Amino acid sequence: MSNDPRPPSASDARAAQLAELDDLNRRALAGGGQARVDKQHEAGKLTARERVELLCDPGSFVEIDRLVQHRCTDFDMDKQKVPGDGVVTGWGKVDGRKVAVFAQDFTVFGGSLSGAYAQKICKLMDFAVKTGIPVVGLNDSGGARIQEGVESLAGYAEIFWRNTQASGVVPQISLIMGPCAGGAVYSPAITDFTVMVEGSSYMFITGPEVIKTVTNEDVTKEGLGGASTHAAKSGVCHLTAPDDPAAIARVRELLGFIPSNNTEDPPRGVTADPLDREVPELEAMVPVEPNKPYDIKKVIRAVVDDGDLLEIHERYAQNIVVGFARIGGRSVGVVANQPAFLAGCLDIKASIKAARFVRFCDCFNLPLVTFVDVPGFLPGHRPRVRRHHHARREAAVRVRRGHRAEDHGHHPQGVRRRIRRHGVEAHPRRLQHRVPHGGDRRDGPGRGGQHRLP
Ligand code: HXC
Repeated sequence: MSNDPRPPSASDARAAQLAELDDLNRRALAGGGQARVDKQHEAGKLTARERVELLCDPGSFVEIDRLVQHRCTDFDMDKQKVPGDGVVTGWGKVDGRKVAVFAQDFTVFGGSLSGAYAQKICKLMDFAVKTGIPVVGLNDSGGARIQEGVESLAGYAEIFWRNTQASGVVPQISLIMGPCAGGAVYSPAITDFTVMVEGSSYMFITGPEVIKTVTNEDVTKEGLGGASTHAAKSGVCHLTAPDDPAAIARVRELLGFIPSNNTEDPPRGVTADPLDREVPELEAMVPVEPNKPYDIKKVIRAVVDDGDLLEIHERYAQNIVVGFARIGGRSVGVVANQPAFLAGCLDIKASIKAARFVRFCDCFNLPLVTFVDVPGFLPGHRPRVRRHHHARREAAVRVRRGHRAEDHGHHPQGVRRRIRRHGVEAHPRRLQHRVPHGGDRRDGPGRGGQHRLP
């Protein structure tokens, strides 16, 4: 307390406000405090801000809503406020291209979502759709903030709705970087790509402790929802990485293959690999005997620019291979039967895997290159293949066995040239199919009206 009897002057008041602002900023940057930050580091995890810095080009991140606080007064929550409320939101650049980013801070109430926190994410998603930039979510959260009850559940409803509306309009990529539960999992699961960190990230409805209390069941985090479970069994996870920096690097790589929204083309890569290069080594790679297995990935890598394939869903439904590559510097989606696994037969998982990937490419103007070598459906499974064949730019390469190579099937030898001539450049750019009215694009593009980028 000051002993000065004079009333505070305007400059004193301004100085006090600035000091308060400094204090709020300092507390926002500190997150849940040093002890919790240390715990995060001990677990091999980075903090939300460290992750954002790694994802974005140096100095490009612009934060918004840093001082937002929750409004809950129950359970003494009014005495526990951290500016920013456990989520960092803003935009930055990845290889010079703008992206919207939110990063959940596990050190603040376990990264759990309040009503105010949800509003920060929704504002960012609205901004991303309006400006046509991808949304990258760095998830590390226990889900709905239990203390807020329905307020936080309603916040998730707003986020899920935006996930479906943005689907097929701007790419949505989710990194799972900690124990994520409840809504912190449901939202990432309906985005386009989910990347998980091995050994430190989990996706489940609720954690093992709660399960033990409710059902007396003993389960491990890994078995319940670790990276291996979701990459190999459920197919929820598209890419995995050994640690936080590697996972972030994968997302930067992925962004390099895809456009910022559904009206743009993907960025053009720089390559010294000649477009008219012949691929004579394919003769030795593909056995003449139809029953002899071989690795289709070697064939793909021989054909695409610089042997560079970013495989998606590598450990799920391995009888089909999907991923991104470039031909003549232009991004393409690759779909290929894999004779080295289940003889390349199609089953339900493989069909769903391919269909999900094809739908993404269809929405985002990526030509498809299909490597066909398939004996048919795996007997004993009910075939469930959904076929979407709109004005997609597509080139099918018949490698060995293919029941319907269609009229645009090519011999692999000249595929690089032919893809350019027939598959990529000859077809008109597909601009018409947008998110169907009142649903997401998974119902199939073009049905029930069109949703265009505003
Ligand atoms: C509030 C939470 C929280 C939550 C974690 N915390 N989850 N606070 N709401 N949902 C807090 C913990 O109390 C703890 O605070 C700190 O975060 C770290 O959590 P720990 O349990 O110590 O960490 P860990 O052992 O690593 O386990 C993490 C966890 C576990 C697996 C996420 O906390 C857990 O199972 N939480 C409950 C998850 C859950 O049931 N979520 C579903 C919400 S319902 P202190 O102060 O001790 O550090 C939902 C439905 C959405 O999301 C549906 C929408 C329609």
